[in-house]
Amino acid sequence: MPEGTRLFARGRHPADFRPDVATEALEGLTKPRKTLPAKLFYDDEGCRLFGRITALPEYYPTRTETAMLRDLGPDVGRVVPDGAVVVEYGAGDETKAALLLAALAAPSAYVPIDIAEGALSAAADRLRALMPTLGVFPLALDFLKPFSLPIAVRGRRLLGYFSGSTIGNLEPASAVQFMRHALATLGPGSQFLIGVDMRKSPIVLIPAYNDGRGVTAAFNRNLLVRLNREAAADFDVDAFEHAAIWNDAESRIEMHLISRRDQVASVAGRRIQFNAGETIHTENSYKHTIDGFRAMAASAGWRPAKVWTDPDDLFSLHLLDTGA
Ligand code: AVJ
Repeated sequence: MPEGTRLFARGRHPADFRPDVATEALEGLTKPRKTLPAKLFYDDEGCRLFGRITALPEYYPTRTETAMLRDLGPDVGRVVPDGAVVVEYGAGDETKAALLLAALAAPSAYVPIDIAEGALSAAADRLRALMPTLGVFPLALDFLKPFSLPIAVRGRRLLGYFSGSTIGNLEPASAVQFMRHALATLGPGSQFLIGVDMRKSPIVLIPAYNDGRGVTAAFNRNLLVRLNREAAADFDVDAFEHAAIWNDAESRIEMHLISRRDQVASVAGRRIQFNAGETIHTENSYKHTIDGFRAMAASAGWRPAKVWTDPDDLFSLHLLDTGA
C-alpha cells in the first residue's frame, strides 16, 4: 500500500479511534484469506488477559522458562563475562530478567526495550527497587525496527535476552532477519539468550492455546473488542469462535476466529463480508526443534554456543555468541 493512502473514509470517529490500528486491521481483513496482526492483541485488556494465560495450568511456557532461569545459576555465570549489560527485547514484565540478572556474576546494567511505554517504565521502576546499584536504561520503541543503544552502554559486553518464545510469532525467515539485525545492534563479542518453545505433541500444544477456562478464547476475541473501540468497527464478537489449530507442516500453532454465520462487519467505514466458517487468522506460534533453531541462528550469523532444556523437553534456552 502506498504511504499515506487511507483505506477508510475521513469523517467523524469516536475519541478512541486509532488510524494506525484501523489501517493495519483493514490491511489484513481485505486479503482473500483474512488476517489480523498478533501485535494488536496487546491493549490494556489484552495484556491483562495474557497475564492470566501465563498462569493457566495448560500454558506451560512461562512457568517452564521461569523455573529454568531459577535453576540456571552458576551455569550462566560461567559463560557470561563479569560486567555484562543485559539488553532485553520485549520487557513489559521484569520477572524473568530479574532471575537472569541474579544468576549473572556481576551484571553492570540493564536495558529493557518495549513498545508499551507504561508497562516498560513500571517494570523498570520495579527492577531499580530490586537492584538499586544496577544502571537501568529503558528504551520505549519497536525493536523490530532499527535502533541504537544508549550511549552509556556502547562498547560494553552485551547480553541480549529475548524471552517467552516471542520469536515464535515470527515466520522463520523474519526470525532470521530479526536475529541478523540484533547481531548488528549488539555487536562483536556480544551474546544472545533466546527462549524458544519446542516442537511437541499437539496433545500438549492444543490445550495450551485453547484452555478449559476460555481465557485464550477471550484473549483472541478481545482483538475484535479492540477494533470496535479503536477502529470504529461493529463486530458481533460472540458471532466468532476461537480456534487453535496445529499446522504440522509449518510446525506452528495457529489461532483463528471463525465466523459462526454469514455476516457483514464494518471497519472504519468499510464493509467486510464473512461467510459462515470463514476464518480470521490472528496468530502463528512457531515451535522449533533444537537443531532447527540452531540452524536459523547460524544463518543469521550467530554461533550457537549452548542450549538448556527443561527435564520434559518443553522449552529451550539458546545461548548464542559471535565467536569473538
Ligand atoms: C507471547 C507470542 C509467546 O505464542 O505462546 C499465548 C502468545 N497466544 N496464548 C505464545 C499467546 C496465545 C504467546 N507469545
